[in-house]
Amino acid sequence: MKVSDAKIIDLPKICDPRGNLTVVEELKDIPFKIARCYWIYDVPGGESRGGHAHKKLKQLLIALSGSFTVTLDDGTEKKTILLNHPYQGLILETNIWRTLDDFSSGAVCMVLASDIYDPDDYIYDYNEFIEYRKHLDG
Ligand code: TYD
Repeated sequence: MKVSDAKIIDLPKICDPRGNLTVVEELKDIPFKIARCYWIYDVPGGESRGGHAHKKLKQLLIALSGSFTVTLDDGTEKKTILLNHPYQGLILETNIWRTLDDFSSGAVCMVLASDIYDPDDYIYDYNEFIEYRKHLDG
């Protein structure tokens, strides 16, 4: 996947005077089955999350509350995307270096992931990531 392919998707939003509702169904609203859900919260001002790539894992990131930026890097190109609506999501395909920054006060980042936690799926070293991408991209 290239960074230029990354985009924010609009999720179904059911507007209601009692409060709105957004839903995600696997293989319908997102192109993978959901094996795991986790969320990042209480991020102190100025802190950064992420800073790695995944070899096989696909993810959907949603700003359930507040806002944060996601910087994507495919080894050639970088792009920074602001997530600030609970009815939008960013699909992260495989082999993209990502960093999450600029968390607003009270921001909650929910992640729907295509697989259970596997430390061996991570690339934590940026130079290793660049070499891995070169190998993949031929
Ligand atoms: P990590 O994925 O590196 O966090 P970030 O969101 O900043 O990229 O995970 C941070 C720590 O949490 C790491 O020690 C592994 C642990 N962890 C789990 O045990 N299970 C999980 O599902 C996740 C996502 C992380």
